[in-house]
Parts: sequence; structure tokens; C-alpha cells
Amino acid sequence: MTENVPSPNPSEAYERHIVQTMFVPWTADLLQRALPQAGERVLDLACGTGIVTRSVASIVGTEGTVTGLDISPGMLEVARSLTPSGGAKVEWREGSGTELPFEDDSFDLVLCQQGLQFFPDASAGLKEIKRVLTAEGRAVISLWRNLDAQPVMKAFDAVVPRHIAQGAFGPPFSLGDSGIIRRLASEARFSNVDIQQADLTIHVGNPDEFAPMMLRGATAVLPGFAAKPHTEREQLFDQMKTDISDAVKPFVQQGTLVMDTTVNVLIARP
Ligand SMILES: C[S@@+](CC[C@H](N)C(=O)[O-])C[C@H]1O[C@@H](n2cnc3c(N)ncnc32)[C@H](O)[C@@H]1O
Repeated sequence: MTENVPSPNPSEAYERHIVQTMFVPWTADLLQRALPQAGERVLDLACGTGIVTRSVASIVGTEGTVTGLDISPGMLEVARSLTPSGGAKVEWREGSGTELPFEDDSFDLVLCQQGLQFFPDASAGLKEIKRVLTAEGRAVISLWRNLDAQPVMKAFDAVVPRHIAQGAFGPPFSLGDSGIIRRLASEARFSNVDIQQADLTIHVGNPDEFAPMMLRGATAVLPGFAAKPHTEREQLFDQMKTDISDAVKPFVQQGTLVMDTTVNVLIARP
């Protein structure tokens, strides 16, 4: 195991629950909008366990390159273990999105799926993205819309403060307003900015899986969830399960939890 990675590594649960349920379908949507081309040099920024990196590597092919960068050693440990064998050469880098370890004009395409809102300074992150893109390049960045537009996640959020800290589930939705995204893109001096709303319904076949999926998955990305030691956290999650299952019951249809989810996708060109 890599130094500084907690044991057990919460990023394994993130990959198993959140990525496989939600981010596999969302990655397909992102790539349909980004239209990566064979031979392109791609950066997957805030790559997490690498779902976007892996998917784009097969599209840009052996003439292309894909770099997955993340600040979390735990995420990168899982990403490395899943490095694809075919397609583009993949490189994993640990680093901060607000200070990218790359030369100017290094990439044709920068992808960032649900990562920018976690940066300590999203404006600095967008300026860095613009710096490392070629003049003809593009950035395609997805960000959850506000919680009010995500009924199931909103129901989950309402339960969290009864057990963990108020606002612990807030960070993923902190850039949920398209007006703020447009302002940040303009501050970073992108010349061509498009913001597209995308909606996707996720089906969770066994609604009882929803609470553990969200709680364990969130531990890898949210400090409020990660703060407690593993055993204590698991006990807390056991206590929360019933409240969460009750809160999402209105969204269960014929035994399946139906989650309407929605994002803004920023497509920005230098
Ligand atoms: C919700 S996850 C998304 C991961 C991945 N893009 C995916 O689609 O599964 C957010 C990621 O942002 C990363 N992150 C947070 N702050 C960061 C920063 N300042 N620089 C780079 N990555 C960061 C986290 O470590 C985490 O892997």
C-alpha cells in the first residue's frame, strides 16, 4: 500500500459504489459531449479512481496519451490498480489542480468530472486548465447542479445533519449555479464558453444498497464523512441506514430506487 493511504482505503468503496452506479453512465455522457479524437493528448483532472481516464484511453488509441491527475494518493492507488492494458499510454500523477505540474499548451483536451468544486480555489483551477490547453483545445467539465434539482440526493442531504455535521454533504454541489460557472470561466479568460444542462436517471436495483453506497462512497471525498475512525464511522453508518432508507422511500418504484440526477457541463475553449 502507498504511504498516506488509510486502511481500509475508502477509495475502493468509492470505486465500487459511486463510480460503478453513477459515474459509469455519467462518463459516457461526458465523452459524448467532449468527442475525444484518436491521437489527442488528454488530461483527466481530479481523476479519482480513473473512470474517465480509462474510458478515454480506448478512444484516443495508441497514438494518443492520457494523464490522470488527482490530489489523493488513495484514489490514485485504486486508479493504478485498474490501469487499462490497451489504448493510449496512461500516466498517473499526484498533484493539485490549482498548480498543475505541466508546461503551457500540453493538452488538446482537459476533462474534469465532478472535481473542480472540491478545489480550494476553482478560479485558479480554471486558469490552470486554460494555461495547459493548446489554443485549439477544449475543456469539458461536469458539475452537479444545486441540490434542489436532485430530489434523491436532497432527501439524503436532509438526513446527514442529524448524524454528521451540518453541510457535510454540501461540497459536491457548491458550484451548482450556472451563473457562477460562467463568471469563473470568464475570469479565466476563456473566449468561447458553453454551459449545457444534462439529466440522467440512475436506477439502484436494490434500494437497501443506496445508504451504504452514499455513505461509504462519500468517505473518500468528503472530510466531514472521513473525520471519524473506521470502526466508529461504520457504527454511525449502521445507525443512519434506517433514516436514509425512509427518506428515499418516495422514490422507490417497483422495488427500484429511481434517482433523477442533473449536471451542468462547461465546454470552454481558450
Ligand atoms: C467526486 S471525485 C470525482 C473523481 C473522478 N473525476 C470521477 O469521475 O470519479 C472528486 C475528486 O477530486 C479530487 N480533488 C479534490 N481536490 C483536488 C485538487 N485540489 N486537485 C486535484 N484533485 C482534487 C478528489 O481527490 C477526488 O478524487
